[in-house]
Amino acid sequence: MSSDDLYPAALAARARAYAPYSGYLVGASLRDETGRVHAAANVENAAYPQSQCAEASAIGVMIAAGGRKIVEALVVADEQPGLPSPCGACRQRLREFMALDAPIHLAGAAGVIRTVTLGDLLPLSFGPEHLGREAVR
Ligand code: THU
Repeated sequence: MSSDDLYPAALAARARAYAPYSGYLVGASLRDETGRVHAAANVENAAYPQSQCAEASAIGVMIAAGGRKIVEALVVADEQPGLPSPCGACRQRLREFMALDAPIHLAGAAGVIRTVTLGDLLPLSFGPEHLGREAVR
């Protein structure tokens, strides 16, 4: 699986991020079970806790388009001072729709820096199968 189409989609979304408070622009893209790519950016709010991460925005875009499973994801932000990476809450959001061995690409201005799995980011996690739903595979 390649991030060739995930990266430009996330980068384009990142360019449209609304992040006037933090100045930290994030783009996220998701490939669904049919191969379609869904991308979105972070959306901040003057009432800070109401801000939404790029991953959460992208999940909403995917769901509205009919996607139900994430087979691959990519997050792009400034690579300095730290490697871009989904926040804790977004790791759990991804867990709802993504298998633990599915890849998440962490990218900066020059492209993908590192690829990890959801299981790497969220070990011993809680998910749909704990509540009797089918595990995401
Ligand atoms: N942010 C994301 O969009 N995704 C993450 O996983 C980390 C944080 C956003 C939220 C906020 O708009 C800004 O980055 C600074 O926290």
